[in-house]
Amino acid sequence: MDFETLKQVEHENLMQTYGRFDVALDHGDGCVVYDLEGNPYLDLTSGIGVNALGHNYKPLVEAISRQAGKMMQASNLFYTKPMIEAAAKLNKLAKTKKVFYANSGAEANEGMIKIARKYSWDKYQDPERLTILTLKNSFHGRTIATLEATGQDHFHANFFPFTQGFDYVEANNIEELNEKLSSGKYAGLMMELVQGESGVRPLDPAFVKAAEKLCQDNDVLLMIDEVQTGIGRTGALFCYQNYDLSPDLVSCAKGLGGGVPIGAVLASEKTADVLKAGDHGTTFGGNPLAASAANVVLDTVGDPEFLADVAGKGQYFMDSIKAIDSDHIQDVRGMGLMIGIEVGPDAVLDDLAKLRAQGVLALKAGKGTIRLLPPLTLSKAQIDQAVAAMKEVF
Ligand SMILES: Cc1ncc(COP(=O)(O)O)c(C=O)c1O
Repeated sequence: MDFETLKQVEHENLMQTYGRFDVALDHGDGCVVYDLEGNPYLDLTSGIGVNALGHNYKPLVEAISRQAGKMMQASNLFYTKPMIEAAAKLNKLAKTKKVFYANSGAEANEGMIKIARKYSWDKYQDPERLTILTLKNSFHGRTIATLEATGQDHFHANFFPFTQGFDYVEANNIEELNEKLSSGKYAGLMMELVQGESGVRPLDPAFVKAAEKLCQDNDVLLMIDEVQTGIGRTGALFCYQNYDLSPDLVSCAKGLGGGVPIGAVLASEKTADVLKAGDHGTTFGGNPLAASAANVVLDTVGDPEFLADVAGKGQYFMDSIKAIDSDHIQDVRGMGLMIGIEVGPDAVLDDLAKLRAQGVLALKAGKGTIRLLPPLTLSKAQIDQAVAAMKEVF
């Protein structure tokens, strides 16, 4: 099937919920992906921050092939080795106590919301103390509850009635946060430390530390959404480690399976045993196939040398973009290999198309930001190649 026919069949058979780029991807190797005609592209998207180890990463391919030949799904009615091993690794690396597996980022966030509400209810039995506070311009997923948790009005159209019990606060506004959290209405504060979908905006460290203290003082659970920032993306295994935080709950997904769908909720001592048998569950959660992938990812990305390399390459990439002499770039921000280049709403789609013409794939975030989420295995030579293409475009 040629590309034009493929597009037509897609149009006829798939709900048109995505604005797809004009490329059909066929396969990849490392940080390079190939379209149907075999044209190569440098991949600065990694499946929106998923292929942490790049494409066709041999140890990962071997592990999931081996596991597929043994057993792919067993259900949570049984003990299986891969998920138990991966949970022990996660707890060791994250310094958390217990893991609940999900299958996506939104589902992991739903798990955190359930734990926060149950924690508050078990302890206070106060129906007025169950609200989840999130930040304006946040993004937490597309399920009916995580949509409401997402602090952007345009996500709140069309799908009424939403679940109740969410409220929002301006990012980096300590005063407003204090007012809200001391009101006795909140079970949890959920936030991304670098707001990804809304434009790659790292939170102010003073705000984040103040939020941690206010959560502790008011017994409100600090819930960090690490779906996009987690698994090495920002140069630490989890971004909260860059901010020196001790969260009560952490969600992750995307990079955890290196391309295989898996999500997880990580709980601290305080929240580890809130959920009891029957309180929560999922058929696919922690299945041996996805967990075997997570084991390879954690063994690789969890290595301090690997993480230091990500941090170094991220800084090099950001410095190189900042050094481009062009009025077109309004701002460059980010952390590790999560980088936003503000070019404005009128330019962003056109710039992405021009980058594709130069053989570089990148993403959009917010209204006018080019977002880079390359595989963490990107080389310095590939960074130079991307920057050379950007010089042409900008
Ligand atoms: C911070 C954050 N939370 C949650 C999600 C939702 O994850 P998923 O699409 O796997 O449900 C995303 C996805 O982009 C995200 O960036």
